[in-house]
Amino acid sequence: MRVLGIETSCDETSAAVLDGAGDDVSLRSLVILSQDVHRIFGGVVPEIASRAHLTAVVPVTERALADAGAAPIDAVAVTNAPGLVGALLVGVSYAKAFAYARGVPVIGVHHMEGHLFATALEHPAAVPPFIALLVSGGHTLLLDVEAWGRYRLLGRTRDDAAGEAFDKVAKLLGLPYPGGPHVERLAAANESGRFRFARPMLRRDQSPGDSDFYDVSFSGLKTAVLNAVKSADDAERGPIARAFQDSLIDTLVEKTARAVARRHRSRVVLGGGVACNATLVAAMRERFAPRGVEVFAPSARLATDNAAMMARAGLFRLEQGERSPLDLNAFASQPIPGLVSA
Ligand code: KG4
Ligand code: ZN
Repeated sequence: MRVLGIETSCDETSAAVLDGAGDDVSLRSLVILSQDVHRIFGGVVPEIASRAHLTAVVPVTERALADAGAAPIDAVAVTNAPGLVGALLVGVSYAKAFAYARGVPVIGVHHMEGHLFATALEHPAAVPPFIALLVSGGHTLLLDVEAWGRYRLLGRTRDDAAGEAFDKVAKLLGLPYPGGPHVERLAAANESGRFRFARPMLRRDQSPGDSDFYDVSFSGLKTAVLNAVKSADDAERGPIARAFQDSLIDTLVEKTARAVARRHRSRVVLGGGVACNATLVAAMRERFAPRGVEVFAPSARLATDNAAMMARAGLFRLEQGERSPLDLNAFASQPIPGLVSA
């Protein structure tokens, strides 16, 4: 089956074409247009994002179709939740029109389910069962992926997402948006010196029944960084960045390790923009290698928002016999489908 994927949930306009069946897929094309304009405002401005998607979605899709070659498209997969509603609607409307005009089915796909599938596009062994840590600008999810479509939600953030924490700390440190790569660079060039921040929601006496055993929270850490910035001079921004990143990474690694041990999994799959952070990936590998647990992370292109992962997740849903009606809508928030309860 040949699937066209479309992603417009935030500030990337992306289209991709993928051929395949089951886990045997090949990516034929991927076009990602990042909306640089938001840098001026230090964050994504929803109205500007929608308008930029509107201008970009047709040429981006046509480029992806041309790159993929002549074979006809069998179905369209489009991100319809969660995200900025105005931005999502551009992709959803275009996908429905495209599908209707060509007489092919359309399937609405959950953005975070897309992130779950991204790594498998590059690493054939990154397939269930595995523990997934999805760390993006809007979400932080720790999942036990028993099979594609069967997700046990172990933990999530109680406030800021991991990427959001990076972006807010970057702002406090006077770094540009999006802040993740800048904070990572500054942290890598410094030791933490006199700064050390508490590991949020990490105590030795937590037990698996506790609601905070797997959950994370980063807003307190952000406040601790704010107080440190106020008490320090500019030369200490590097050590503060390092101390922040150390604390955040330690927390994510420990929570993931708890999941691996309790759920007896031998694979960890990382996803979302923060999975671009090489220090995070290295810390995960260092922690899990001695236990024989493999850690998979997507390349930067597939870790951040892209339509290839949406096409891949859409292919799975289509193969399950799922189709969306032509009144498919966009939703700002929606739980990831396929959640199984404890
Ligand atoms: O998954 P994504 O592209 O968009 C969302 O769905 O939110 O993630 C974007 C997030 C931003 O918060 C950005 O700062 C963060 O990923 N990010 C990073 C790095 N590269 C991107 N965070 C930490 N270290 C990085 N190297
Ligand atoms: Zn994302």
